[in-house]
Amino acid sequence: MYPRGRAAGPHHGRRSLREGFIIERMDTSALRQAPFGSVLTDSMSIAWYRDGKWSPERVQPTAPLPIHPAAHALHYSSSCFEGFKAYRRADGGVHVFRLERHVERLRQSARLLMLPEPDAAQVKRMVLGLVDRCRGDVPEAPGALYLRPVLFGTVPNIGAAGTPTSEACLVVLASPVWDYFAGGLRPLRISVELSSRTAPHLGMVKTGGNYAAALGPTLAARRDYGADQVLFCPGGQVQETGAANFLLIRDKHILTRGLDTTFLHGVTRDSALTLARDLGYEVSERIFDVDETLRWIADGEAVLSGTAAVLAGVGTLIHQGREFRVGTGEVGPHTRALRAALISIQRGESADKYGWLTPV
Ligand code: PLP
Ligand code: COI
Repeated sequence: MYPRGRAAGPHHGRRSLREGFIIERMDTSALRQAPFGSVLTDSMSIAWYRDGKWSPERVQPTAPLPIHPAAHALHYSSSCFEGFKAYRRADGGVHVFRLERHVERLRQSARLLMLPEPDAAQVKRMVLGLVDRCRGDVPEAPGALYLRPVLFGTVPNIGAAGTPTSEACLVVLASPVWDYFAGGLRPLRISVELSSRTAPHLGMVKTGGNYAAALGPTLAARRDYGADQVLFCPGGQVQETGAANFLLIRDKHILTRGLDTTFLHGVTRDSALTLARDLGYEVSERIFDVDETLRWIADGEAVLSGTAAVLAGVGTLIHQGREFRVGTGEVGPHTRALRAALISIQRGESADKYGWLTPV
């Protein structure tokens, strides 16, 4: 596997597949220091859409692709992606968490962006085949193999702004990962912004443009307040952060926005709410605003949920230049309990009663 352009740290690698290094065996000390997603396995799975049909998939070396500079995705952002994880159990077995849901969300993103929709069976084959090939690169817990299908329009036609792409490419990448937020399980600093992350009908689509749109506010909040993420609250209504959903917890009661088109329908959110109900939490899914959030956090907890973030506790909200401590300012007991319940299913330590794990 290789990090692009440089070695991830001290390891037993040998020179080099293209500009990087091959690491011959999993070296988690290097991985812990590598930024999330910067190390890729040396294989990827790929399929092409042309003449109205998808080609059979192929596993090939992870390497640059020949993309025409007039490709639809480069001009008109016809692209979407997914992110989910394969986990290694103590007994060495490898399982993918909630594969079906993520494949369905990719297909939904494709439909909403007028991209050719890949067959669910083919995407699953691509993912499972790649994980099988890269089995040795799945790190021990709490690491995981992050899986990243990306689908993009390739038709070379710069006049096609008003026409869906007639050609496309689907690639599945794999990346051994450790923590998303540097510093492990520390309380996060979140800046509350009254702006929008995305157009209201596109929030539920996992497309690159939404992340590009969030970047400016996120960098500004990092610079001005040392914030880890921005919580987007257009018109005062709480939506989500740039890379995770947002939940409030108080007295065994969870409050989070109800599903609508304005934000990404997180699979971690769904999993956490399901487990919370099992653990006796009351769950409210509805619209709420910044003022209500500030009342909840006075003696409650706030949590980011996402594949990369898992369940990450918030210690501080920053709103209109003022800092508001969330509860004690530390990662709270409800966050820890829900996180533990989720991780224990992902690692195969408790029963998979909802059938969320696909063995590889
Ligand atoms: N919201 C955004 C904007 C995200 O990027 C993510 C991460 O994928 C999520 C929410 C959480 O989604 P999931 O739990 O399916 O990973
Ligand atoms: C994820 O949690 O899978 C994400 O997409 C977050 C980020 C890496 C974009």
